[in-house]
Amino acid sequence: MRVLSIETSCDETAVAVLDAEGDERDAKFRILGNALLSQIDLHREYGGVFPHLAKREHAKNLVPLLEAALEEAELLREDTQELEPELQSKLAKLLEREPGLSEAFLSFAAEAEIPAIDAIAVTSGPGLEPALWVGVNFAKALSLLWNKPLVAVNHMEGHILSALAQEADGTLRIRNVSLPVLALLISGGHTELVCMDEWLSYSLVGETRDDAVGEAFDKVARMLELPYPGGPEVSKLAEEARQGGPGPAFALPRPMLNSDTCDFSFAGLKTAVLYLLKNSDIPPHDRKHVAREFEDAVADVLWKKTSRALEASGANTLVLGGGVSANTHIRRVFSEKMREEWPQVALHIPKASLTTDNAVMIGLAGFYRALREDVVNDPDTLTAKGTLSLAK
Ligand code: KG4
Ligand code: ZN
Repeated sequence: MRVLSIETSCDETAVAVLDAEGDERDAKFRILGNALLSQIDLHREYGGVFPHLAKREHAKNLVPLLEAALEEAELLREDTQELEPELQSKLAKLLEREPGLSEAFLSFAAEAEIPAIDAIAVTSGPGLEPALWVGVNFAKALSLLWNKPLVAVNHMEGHILSALAQEADGTLRIRNVSLPVLALLISGGHTELVCMDEWLSYSLVGETRDDAVGEAFDKVARMLELPYPGGPEVSKLAEEARQGGPGPAFALPRPMLNSDTCDFSFAGLKTAVLYLLKNSDIPPHDRKHVAREFEDAVADVLWKKTSRALEASGANTLVLGGGVSANTHIRRVFSEKMREEWPQVALHIPKASLTTDNAVMIGLAGFYRALREDVVNDPDTLTAKGTLSLAK
């Protein structure tokens, strides 16, 4: 099965083409085309992702990225064709809400042949709703133009499945997954522990009661006068502090560490950093120690709650997903602790290029959903949903 996948939930616009074979127990994926454009440089001056700017950029970049992904997959054949007037007017109507996309889409539609793909997968949530809508409308228009089935994908399921994928001989393979799978999903918008009890069926084990962990990283970065996105910058500074041996001692709180739930809270930690910087005379060269203590506090809480959740769920596999799982210190803590305390549980942390948002992960989830014939029967009913949740 060939899946064309589209991701626009946040500040990455991405289109991929995967060739998938196998079934739920053993599936193999070849990445035929993979095109991605990050908007990070544009959002940097706002100090965060600005939803309407994200929407405008997605609209501008989707058609060129689609062409690039199809071209790489050798599926782009040009042939001037007359669009049926009825189809043309349906497409124009569908894309009325996406003025930045409509014109480029209609000229693409008049020039490109129908590619040999079997399904179109698109992220329908969670994420920034204006940004999600562009991808959803684009996917609906393609589905109408090519008469291909449309599959709605939960972005977080994409993160989990990409973490389960093993790379071998230029392919991705998902097999021998021992259920239940516990997933710690940590990104700019999410911090949750989700359990996949049966394949693609989830329950919520714990979640943040306030800020997401990526959000806390980004806010602390701002306090330390580091550029957006703050996570990698805080991480770099903290690693510097670790390499220099022990520094001045600051103690930051570990919120909810000993509460008997698997829920998190990061707002208090963020405020504690604010007060620490305000009330103590920390010279600029010692600020790296604040970054280190913040990261240590985050890793302590994430580990303790995950460990509690492993116990409660009886999970046989643990996956880390979402942008924050690119963090060196968190990866190190989890690898060491799992080896020492849970050697019987398989740990999967995706390689860095799969931890940040991309369309390959949406294609993986799209394949499994299409296999189950979990397709959108009436595209008119598909909506983008910013708060879409994985667990019922
Ligand atoms: O999953 P993602 O790419 O987008 C969302 O769906 O939110 O996650 C982005 C978040 C940002 O908050 C960013 O600062 C954080 O992931 N992040 C990191 C690192 N790399 C990205 N946080 C800590 N350490 C990193 N190395
Ligand atoms: Zn994400």
